[in-house]
Amino acid sequence: NTPARDRLRIAIQKSGRLADPARALLTSCGLSWRESRDRLFCYGESLPVDLLLVRDDDIPGLIAEGVCDLGIVGRNVLLEQGYDRVVNGNPPAFREWRALGFGGCRLALAVPDGWDWQGPEQLAGKRIATSYPASLTRWLAEQGIDAKVVLLSGSVEIAPRLGQADAICDLVSSGATLAANQLKPVTTLLESEAVLAGPAEPLDATRGELADLLLRRLDGALRIRH
Ligand code: PRP
Ligand code: ZN
Ligand code: MG
Repeated sequence: NTPARDRLRIAIQKSGRLADPARALLTSCGLSWRESRDRLFCYGESLPVDLLLVRDDDIPGLIAEGVCDLGIVGRNVLLEQGYDRVVNGNPPAFREWRALGFGGCRLALAVPDGWDWQGPEQLAGKRIATSYPASLTRWLAEQGIDAKVVLLSGSVEIAPRLGQADAICDLVSSGATLAANQLKPVTTLLESEAVLAGPAEPLDATRGELADLLLRRLDGALRIRH
C-alpha cells in the first residue's frame, strides 16, 4: 500500500516520440518543474504536480500500482496491457482519460511484399511476430484464425527475413520501416495516438481536485490546438 500523497504525479516517456510533445502539452497547461535534464523525477513548481520520466511500457503498471496518478502513453500500450490484465483475470486498473492528438500511428498486420493478400484467413497456421501479443491474440480470435504468435520486444520487422516469422504485427507511422524491410501493411488492428491515462477508480480528494484542474486546462489547450 502506497502512503497517501498530496501531490499529483504524472508519468511521461523519458525519451522517444512522445517525450517532447508530452512535456510541451503539460507546459501549455501551466505546469513547470524544477528540473535537471537527466533527473528522472521533476518536482512541480507552479502546482504540486510532479513528473516521473520512465519507459512508456512501464506507465500503465505504474498507474495500476498507484505509484503514479496519471500518464501520457500510446493507446496501443494502454490497450495491450489492459487486454493482458483481462486475460490474466486482473481487474481493469487504468483507462484512457483523454485522446491528445499527437503521436498518431496504427497497429497493423504486415506481410512480405510478394504476398498476394486475400484476407485474414491467409494467416491460418502462419507465424506472426509482434511486441503486442495480447492485442494480436485477441484480434486473431475475433477473426477465428489459428496462428502462432511469436513474441519479440523489438526489431519485429526483420523477423520474416530471418525466417523467424511469416508476417508481423507492429506499429506503423510513416511506413518507412515496413518499406525498408520489404513488407506491406494489409490490415489495421488499432488506430493509436498519445492519450492521457488515469486510474479506473477515482482519485482521492486532494489529488482528484488537482487532476480536475489539470483536465480543465488540458481540455482548453486541446481546443486551441484543433
Ligand atoms: C516503431 C515501430 C516501428 C516503427 C514504425 O518503433 O515499432 O518499428 O516505429 O515507424 P515508421 O512507420 O515511421 O517507420 P520505434 O522507432 O518507436 O522503436 P521501438 O520499436 O523500439 O519501440
Ligand atoms: Zn516502448
Ligand atoms: Mg520498432
